[in-house]
Amino acid sequence: MGAAATVAALPSFAQETSMNAPKVLRSAFAATHTPKPLRFDPAKLAGLSEKLIRSHWENNYIGSVKTLNVIEGRLASAMQDKDFPPIAYGGLKREELHRVGSVILHEHYFDNLGGDGKPGGEVAKALAQVYGSVAAWEAEFRRTAMSLAGGSGWCVLSLNAATGELRNQWAWDHMHGAVGGLPLLVLDMYEHSYHMDYGSAAAKYLDAFLANVDWNIVDQRFQHARRLTA
Ligand SMILES: [Fe+2]
Repeated sequence: MGAAATVAALPSFAQETSMNAPKVLRSAFAATHTPKPLRFDPAKLAGLSEKLIRSHWENNYIGSVKTLNVIEGRLASAMQDKDFPPIAYGGLKREELHRVGSVILHEHYFDNLGGDGKPGGEVAKALAQVYGSVAAWEAEFRRTAMSLAGGSGWCVLSLNAATGELRNQWAWDHMHGAVGGLPLLVLDMYEHSYHMDYGSAAAKYLDAFLANVDWNIVDQRFQHARRLTA
């Protein structure tokens, strides 16, 4: 696939929130996505084993990065074939959306781990304002997350660029999510994110996740999202 095009410098939400975005716009179907390293020592999380984190990162996250590149390569080829069946093209576009969502959400998920789990910064003040208290926000976050237990999906605290609202969003899969939602805190509720350590005890996984949240990252995302939506 072609190299990334130098169309324009793009100061993006992703760049300022420690995601894996290039500094220039990437060519369509470039198939050049690369895995982002973990920003913490996976052996040092409380209540989440190194084996679990490494398996999740290597198999689920990197698997999606690789598959996204494969799909982009197939889309590039299909673009050159004027007789490519629309139904088959739709299948590729669906998988493209699925894998883009998986890559973005997993990068947010791993990036918001590695902290002490203590909410702070401007985002904590905002949560207290919007929900009445940080404890009330956490209770609603937990209820949203547990509504996905035993199935699959994501629980995402987001600031919506269209409505300006700070909300916990329920997402059944990588393609779900409120339009305009900028992710601040991302929780993976697919069973692959906890079954190795906790079996089906999703509530214990949720406790462990919250104890490891890096609220400095969440606050950086919030402050940047506020600037974008001001
Ligand atoms: Fe996952």
